[in-house]
Amino acid sequence: MQIMTTEFCGPFQPFRIQVTNRDQEFLCPAGSNLLKAMERKNSGCISVGCRGGGCGLCKIRVVQGEFHSKRMSKAHISDDDLEQGVVLACRISPASDLVIESDQYQPPVAG
Ligand code: FES
Repeated sequence: MQIMTTEFCGPFQPFRIQVTNRDQEFLCPAGSNLLKAMERKNSGCISVGCRGGGCGLCKIRVVQGEFHSKRMSKAHISDDDLEQGVVLACRISPASDLVIESDQYQPPVAG
């Protein structure tokens, strides 16, 4: 019999976020929004704007996994978007490991 302590239980472990179309991944603690966790890793795989749901720049598509969501403006996320898993990274936090696509990613300009 294996006894799990809180050290190994899910809610205290960060969730793994795979960004399939950028071939990147990062960890996101439960309760943290995806954009903040991505910025902590400094990966740049999701576009960053207002960080508060107002600009729509951080739009992503959740391909697989569960998440918690705060309200999102219909100006940026329509009902059809939601049905297809399109959300704002600054307004969701993971409830499981996630597989996402970053739709508006702009690669850094060499210069
Ligand atoms: S960063 Fe502006 S809506 Fe997410």
